[in-house]
Order: sequence, then structure tokens, then C-alpha cells
Amino acid sequence: MSIGIIGAMPEEIDILKADMTDLVVDKTASREYFSGKLYGIETTLVFSRWGKVASAMAASTLIAKYPVDSIIFVGVAGAIDDQLNIGDVVIAEELYQHDLDARPLFKQFEIPLTGLSMLKADKALSASAENSAKLFCHNEIRKIIPPLVLKEFDIIAPVCHRGIIASGDAFIATNAQKQQIEQAMPKVLAVEMEGAAVAQVCVEHNIPFTVVRTISDKADHSAHIDFPRFISQVARHYSRSIIQSMYLSFLRRSEKKIRG
Ligand code: ADE
Repeated sequence: MSIGIIGAMPEEIDILKADMTDLVVDKTASREYFSGKLYGIETTLVFSRWGKVASAMAASTLIAKYPVDSIIFVGVAGAIDDQLNIGDVVIAEELYQHDLDARPLFKQFEIPLTGLSMLKADKALSASAENSAKLFCHNEIRKIIPPLVLKEFDIIAPVCHRGIIASGDAFIATNAQKQQIEQAMPKVLAVEMEGAAVAQVCVEHNIPFTVVRTISDKADHSAHIDFPRFISQVARHYSRSIIQSMYLSFLRRSEKKIRG
């Protein structure tokens, strides 16, 4: 088993890199790829940078140069659904590009020449991410993030959701932008700038993937919270704990297989 992890924030990759052994660093096309063992499993980590092209580049190199057989993407997202709160987690069931529109040649959101608008995340990987995120939201969070920090960001009883994530090359920070996304796709939960691009690369390469996002803002006028502080004090701990517990479940499953 060899897993690729793509992080939308350098801090999320750095905290995982610190847990790696047998670390080898390789530079390709302006990105650093960190390979080694993470919690006992062969892993390659990369910080994608921001936006669809940047993240598609990172995913393409990861698949072409490293023997990864699945990809986990971690990062933050803005909430589109009003039920979501800062500190909740969204695991993608499906992803689409909210800014892709080649009408009248193709339907709105359809990726030309694929016949696809929605890209489905891997069910088993996403179920594992959901179990791990629930464990984190219900128990681990209070052991790892100090009460004062949770209070600062108004994180009271975080919830893990599964559903549709929209990706596009824009940071959504006005009600008008948010409403436009909501009206075009009423069931969308959250918005970010990379997931659907990584999903397209994975689908075209037939690599199972999951996308895990911590809600950092409400994708409206209040979206410019203290972003760096949210990443360093909150989001990177979510990513590390969720990945650590996913890895534990992979190891338990493969031990069971060996024992028969
Ligand atoms: N990532 C985190 N918050 C976001 C937002 N409001 N828009 C786009 N990407 C985001």
C-alpha cells in the first residue's frame, strides 16, 4: 500500500512531515514531494498550492512519479449550506467545478469530452475519512485543541457531513458569489479551490481518492477571519488526527487480512 496526501496548506503538510520516518525529498515542477513512512505506511506528501491548475499539477506528478494507489486531499473550505458551522468537517461524496461553463457546447459544469459534471469520491476511503472525522469531532478535538482556541473560533459541537463540494478559481467572500453557487447547485455543502481538479486527475487515472475539508469560514463577507491562525491553531490538527486515525484503520484491516 502506498498513499499520496495532498494538502492545500503548507502547515498541514509540515505537521505530517514531522511524523514521517525514512524521509526523502524530491523537487519537481516547483513542488516538494516528501516520501517515507507515515504511521507505518508508505506515503508521499505534497503541498498543492492554491487553485485548480496548481492542485491538478501536484496530483498529476504524484500519480506519474510515485507508486501511490490512493490519494487523500486535506484542506479548509467555506460553508455554502447554512447548517454548517466553522469547525465542522465535510467529506466529499461528489465534487464539481462551479466555474466550468462551456455552454452551449456542453451542459453547465460538464467537463468537456468526459460526459461528467460530478466526480465521485471513493466510497471506502470516504467512509474511513468520515469515521475518523467523527471520532475527532466527538472526542479527540478537546484533547488536542485548547478550550480558549475553540472558543475564539466559536467551535462548540463540530459535526461531520458528507455531500457535494464545489471547487473553483475564486475565494468566495461575498453573499452574491455564495448565492450564485447555491442557486446553480442547491445541494452543495461547501466551496474550495482544488478538490474537483484533483478529483478529475484521479478519475482520469483511475486512482481512488477522498477529499476532507474543515470549514474555516462561511463564504460571505465574514470570510476573512484570521486565516493563518485558523490553519495553525485548528485546521492542521484536524488533518493530522483524521489522517492518523484513517491510517490506523488501514493497518488494522491489513493485519486482519494477513491473519485471515
Ligand atoms: N477555502 C476556504 N474558504 C474558502 C472560500 N470562502 N472560498 C474558496 N475557497 C475557500
